[in-house]
Amino acid sequence: MKVTVNRKAHFNAAHRLYNADWTDARNAIVFGKCANPHYHGHNYELTVSVKGEIHPETGFVMDMKILKNLIETEIEEQFDHKNLNEEVPEFKTLNPTAENIAVVIWNKLRPKIGKNLDLSITLFETQRNFVTYDGE
Ligand code: NI
Repeated sequence: MKVTVNRKAHFNAAHRLYNADWTDARNAIVFGKCANPHYHGHNYELTVSVKGEIHPETGFVMDMKILKNLIETEIEEQFDHKNLNEEVPEFKTLNPTAENIAVVIWNKLRPKIGKNLDLSITLFETQRNFVTYDGE
């Protein structure tokens, strides 16, 4: 029997989507307003999901205090009120799309969570646009 526990988090961040190998015109066609060289912001809503067996001694899949602290130190403190392109090393050469942000978040959290637990990331970039990544 496996249960998924979920923790929500939030960060505000600025980004610009562009491919440095392309012309400005092609970037504008593919990324539209998101290619604006002056950047723009999003209110990112994050859900971190951890799936596993219930531990018989605690009744927990994972201690939510530990998960909350992990998200705060590994994600919120690194991303909140940052310019992702300029200030987060992972995005120096990686386009900070919602897809890539979700993968970066998964990669940051995966080593910190027990090997017997499955990790899945859901990231909302807008109220209607969201991505999921579970390491596949
Ligand atoms: Ni954007």
